[in-house]
Amino acid sequence: MYALEAIEIIKVYGQTRVLDKVTIRVNAGEIYGLLGPNGAGKSTLMEIILGLRRQDSGTVKIFGVETRNRDFDKKLVGYVPQDHLLYENLSGIDNIKYFAGLYGVPRKAFKERLDSLKNFLELDDNILKKDVVKLSGGQRRRVALAASLIADPKIIIMDEPTTGLDPNIRRDFWRLITDLNKEGKTILLSTHYMEEADELCDRVSIIDRGRILVTGAPDDLKKQYGGEESIILRLKSRYLDHAQMLFEDMGGSIVANEYIKIPGLNEVDIPRVKKSLDETGIPVEGIEVRRPTLEDVFINLTGRRLVEE
Ligand SMILES: Nc1ncnc2c1ncn2[C@@H]1O[C@H](COP(=O)(O)OP(=O)(O)OP(=O)(O)O)[C@@H](O)[C@H]1O
Ligand SMILES: [Mg+2]
Repeated sequence: MYALEAIEIIKVYGQTRVLDKVTIRVNAGEIYGLLGPNGAGKSTLMEIILGLRRQDSGTVKIFGVETRNRDFDKKLVGYVPQDHLLYENLSGIDNIKYFAGLYGVPRKAFKERLDSLKNFLELDDNILKKDVVKLSGGQRRRVALAASLIADPKIIIMDEPTTGLDPNIRRDFWRLITDLNKEGKTILLSTHYMEEADELCDRVSIIDRGRILVTGAPDDLKKQYGGEESIILRLKSRYLDHAQMLFEDMGGSIVANEYIKIPGLNEVDIPRVKKSLDETGIPVEGIEVRRPTLEDVFINLTGRRLVEE
């Protein structure tokens, strides 16, 4: 049985299908990612799964039970929205209490969970007593995470949990997410950072313009749709033309007037490439193997970049 299924979800706004028969099936214990650009439909899908928006058609099941059934237990699913659901002019602790009330968390369980969440999320009383409006971005997100975890859900849905955070704080959040997963939580997250999807997720669905393009383990997607590995040669610009001629037969080309790319080669070819350069007297600044990324997968499937610069 799946932890979470969204089956053939259709959502129409005006004339557009913002979700066009979207199906995802998340196994218990998985970290599952929705990777897609702005406007792909990630938040809409999550809100439909949570019952916060109504689909035009399709079914959502949590542990096999349709969420529109009366015996569906809301406490099973925690939610960390893209724009926090926190009350800005309440303190962190009052926000957490509010969510505990919403889910009917008993008093004794509340105290125990709060203590363990404070520990886990490194939230001290100082932070928790402040009005949310006065907290930093990272602190707010930890309070929001505490609020969503206070009812001890089995599944956590996180909408772009690290967007806008500093890279090092982002890494702290990645660790929190993997730690939660190790404790047995099933996680559905959305992101438009390909590194995040690659690093965190057991499986990823790439979503674009309301459709799922592919689903699979990041490594499998890269193998199948990412294109081939290549060797990147960094040289002083005055040597680029000469080196390009040298590797022309192997498909070498100058990229962005910056480096030479030779497709289809990897580590085992490095000595051979170095030897040709040595023999011609071209000094090498750097030589590396470039592997396909999930961004390459997205580009190959859509012809567009994941994040527009
Ligand atoms: N209430 C609404 N009325 C009309 N259109 C909407 C509404 N909500 C969302 N949309 C449209 O649905 C599409 C999907 O939006 P959604 O917010 O789900 O995308 P997203 O993948 O979460 O994007 P982002 O990465 O920017 O958060 C967009 O084209 C958006 O403009
Ligand atoms: Mg969104």
